[in-house]
Amino acid sequence: MKQDLLTFSDWTPEAMKNLLSLAVEIKQSPASFANILAGKSIVALFEKPSLRTRVSFDIGINKLGGHMVYLDSQAGKLVGREDAVDMAANLACWADAIVARVYSHDTLLQFSDASRVPVVNALCDKYHPCQGLADYLTLFEQFGKTEGLTMAYIGDGNNVTHSLLIVGALLGCNQVVVTPEGHEANADIVAHAKAIGEQTGASITVSNDVSAAKGANVIYTDTWLSMGDDTPLSAIKEKFMPYQVNEDLMATTGATHVMHCQPAHRDLEITGSLIDSDASLLMQQAENRMHGQNAILTKLLSS
Ligand code: CP
Ligand code: NVA
Repeated sequence: MKQDLLTFSDWTPEAMKNLLSLAVEIKQSPASFANILAGKSIVALFEKPSLRTRVSFDIGINKLGGHMVYLDSQAGKLVGREDAVDMAANLACWADAIVARVYSHDTLLQFSDASRVPVVNALCDKYHPCQGLADYLTLFEQFGKTEGLTMAYIGDGNNVTHSLLIVGALLGCNQVVVTPEGHEANADIVAHAKAIGEQTGASITVSNDVSAAKGANVIYTDTWLSMGDDTPLSAIKEKFMPYQVNEDLMATTGATHVMHCQPAHRDLEITGSLIDSDASLLMQQAENRMHGQNAILTKLLSS
């Protein structure tokens, strides 16, 4: 029975910890995994732009001995030219897995139903699970654990926030999510993270007040306007500016490190100087995209 990776929401804490350990092992001993995908081809389909996800999947799959075929929305409209179910069923005739970055989570559900090979979510409107895994791998490397740490996410409640909540709760990491009013994380996903946290000991706090982030080990932020959101920056900038992650905020919260999934907008959601500072984990996060994804592909395709 094929297994997809769309959200991590239905994973157990034990399975999540094992995947994190696999990512660490692949990063430390790449030669042992060099033939895991030998003879396998993976289609990576992108409805939205990407730098990190596209390149880290392509190079990562190559490092596992496999081959990636990139399909972009410029080469032909992906969903719309034919139904998502027909596209996924066709791709599954040739490919051993489908990696997809799509506008709507529903498209992934349709791909999942129609494809007899695993489907991996490379970002949708609701989740970015590959990012979540890479980010907790980064925290684990930095602090030697994930349990009992506190991550404060400050900014727009979005796909990245949701995956940080789910993966963090599974790994026992306390979460504080601070957003401007009207930009909160999805309430159902917050409730689900809280339920997971009851098993793992992770506490989940949501607030509109940045002072809730006091005492966090690490501050995380993301773009105020996600891909596909056509709201002009001028319409939200004033509301979001008090939530900017900057040196003052680091000092008042006492956080030692700062994270951002990138692409980052210097001097909007985060100051450029903080990105370039010793507190920044941004490049480690970017590197870990590849190791985390290789763990996902190893898990889905070699079992
Ligand atoms: N963090 C991330 O997913 O980056 P890209 O949009 O460049 O892939
Ligand atoms: N929330 C952002 C993440 C980009 C990696 C977006 O969806 O555009």
